[in-house]
Amino acid sequence: MSTQPGSVQNSHNSQNTTPTRRTTFNDLATMSLRGERWSMITAYDYMSAGIFEEAGAHSLLVGDSAAMVVYGYDSTIPVTVEELMPLVRAVVRGSRKPIVIADLPFGSYQASVAQAMETSAAFMKDGGAQAVKLEGGVPILPQVEALASAGIPVVGHLGLTPQSVHSLGGYRVQGRGEAGEALMRDAKSLASAGAKAIVLEAIPSELAARVTDMLDIPTIGIGAGNATNAQVIVWQDLLGLAAHEPPKFVRQYAQLRQPIRSAVENWISDVESGAFPGPENTYT
Ligand code: KIV
Repeated sequence: MSTQPGSVQNSHNSQNTTPTRRTTFNDLATMSLRGERWSMITAYDYMSAGIFEEAGAHSLLVGDSAAMVVYGYDSTIPVTVEELMPLVRAVVRGSRKPIVIADLPFGSYQASVAQAMETSAAFMKDGGAQAVKLEGGVPILPQVEALASAGIPVVGHLGLTPQSVHSLGGYRVQGRGEAGEALMRDAKSLASAGAKAIVLEAIPSELAARVTDMLDIPTIGIGAGNATNAQVIVWQDLLGLAAHEPPKFVRQYAQLRQPIRSAVENWISDVESGAFPGPENTYT
């Protein structure tokens, strides 16, 4: 969806008296048409969902990145629907305005249209999500078509698709050379099949700009430059929680690992010395 210059307005922070309702993909598409960029941030629990909503996040993704940042797996492949479902419920309970998108984990939608329908319906009925995301292009078009026809907003995901890390040969930039043309075709097919938006991960910015110009649905970039209609980020990357260096495409807006660690060290030290609890923390 071609971006026109426009104000980067954050409607979530504006005070009004209209009842709160969740943002929809129609709202986000309208923003994109106006040239307003919007945000998608991962959330995996009640409290972070509330904080990100207060900050003005337009959409919350319960990503299968939970596999790593919540469950400690070394890729997104092992995480299951059963493990993601409570996180989806918590994020829905913790937020009122942003649209909540549930990521379909590996092995929960590829086998058949029926499997994709069953998993998506579960995330919407039991989890309360308003949309789902799945990875891949042409091979999963029947699933996208069926979900969209059933009234389920679907977000596609192209480029570096982490569930295919073993066939991609690692976490590396995708879409260079000929592969860029294939990605353009995948993007076009996903949009024709009814996808509401497409995540573009780790592709050259020039390719992301071409895809964005070609489509009439929004693109959401992560490591795809700044021509996409929106940006998505894993919150632990944004806020510096991990012990390791973030990837090149991440800008850290805080380094929370160290202050959290120091605060807990101070508490432990006070517990050990008897300085905590003090009189102000004690009932008489
Ligand atoms: O699982 C996830 O967090 C994602 C985003 C990185 C797009 O898929």
